[in-house]
Amino acid sequence: MLFYVVLFSTAISAGFINAQNPDSPGLKNLAIKHNLLIGGATDLNHDDSNEEQLIINEFSILSNENCLKPNKTQPSRNVFDFRQSDYFVGFCKKNNIVAKGHKLIARDFYLPKWMLDPGLTDKELHDILVDHIKNVMGRYRQGSEYGEIKYWDVLNEVISDAKIYESVFKRLGKNSDGDYNYWELAFRTARAVDPNCVLIWTEDNIEFDYPKADKLYETIKRLKSKGVPIDAVGFQCHIGFNGQPVPDFTKLADYFRKFADLGLYIAITELDVSEKLNQVEIYKNMMQVCLDQPKCISWSTWNVVDKYSWRRNLKDAETPLLFDDNYQPKSTYYGVQEILKKPNINSKNRILPHY
Ligand code: G3I
Repeated sequence: MLFYVVLFSTAISAGFINAQNPDSPGLKNLAIKHNLLIGGATDLNHDDSNEEQLIINEFSILSNENCLKPNKTQPSRNVFDFRQSDYFVGFCKKNNIVAKGHKLIARDFYLPKWMLDPGLTDKELHDILVDHIKNVMGRYRQGSEYGEIKYWDVLNEVISDAKIYESVFKRLGKNSDGDYNYWELAFRTARAVDPNCVLIWTEDNIEFDYPKADKLYETIKRLKSKGVPIDAVGFQCHIGFNGQPVPDFTKLADYFRKFADLGLYIAITELDVSEKLNQVEIYKNMMQVCLDQPKCISWSTWNVVDKYSWRRNLKDAETPLLFDDNYQPKSTYYGVQEILKKPNINSKNRILPHY
């Protein structure tokens, strides 16, 4: 709650105004009236002061894109590289933006090659997981001189057993419920490193793949019943990626409610929408479904301006975001703004955690 007061008063006193449109108050000032964090994702590696100013004007939370992934932070065993992440976290600190870390443990695709070495023993692999979390999360824990990461994606894209989701940490075995041991180990280690951080399990496709959402729900339910410290579930929401279906927003609201009933917060972590779909309506629905659920505490796009989107030049989307190549707000932005301007009865029950 203290955080809310600080953020809100900072925003007012600094008089943040959207640089492109002096009459626009900036999305973050609209969102904070709903006690909601709003943001995007970037490593801030474009040497682009326009992008940085846009973030300062509009956002209250920011995720890194790549620089905190295991393959970036620990490229060689026990060799850590925090150059870009120090800049990212420092920028957030300087500008009163909540820093979100992405990600501690993930599938092999995001791990450094050395972690996949079949010669590593299970004991070594266990210690590698623990030490990685201690080192990376520890650098930005509460009170750190480098700045704090208050939200961490602890696990990302690991619930499916399909081949592309392979994770070397499966070698650490399963518990008697059939859940991989490293899932519990990751969250318990993260909680021990920083008791005040919001610990997120974030997955792709769960906004439309209901069997996968169900599997995640049942897994988290079991783990939480054993006291595993999972605070939030992250819905990535790369909408229309690879021709995937648009979520059924009624069902999405139902899933938000189910996870909320487990005591979890909901975070929308990687939203972007193909322009081949009804983009504005989808963005409006994504904001509405979040505002309607008091446990939905953050709403973030993946990247900030279209020209730096990871979907640029993929066949399904080139302009999937809220801001165009010239940093101008698009119709998608105004759609989201329209929803944020409306009062919502649920917002008074939304409480940002750990502040
Ligand atoms: O840095 C190198 C550069 O030196 C080289 O010239 C260039 C040539 O392709 O590659 C650059 O690295 C690329 C990096 O993005 C930075 O642009 C990698 O090849 C590329 O694989 C990497 O893609 C990232 C991808 O995750 C894989 O890590 C995307 O930027 C990033 O947006 C994407 O993010 C993921 C989330 O972590 C998880 N959810 C899905 C999301 C989208 O795929």
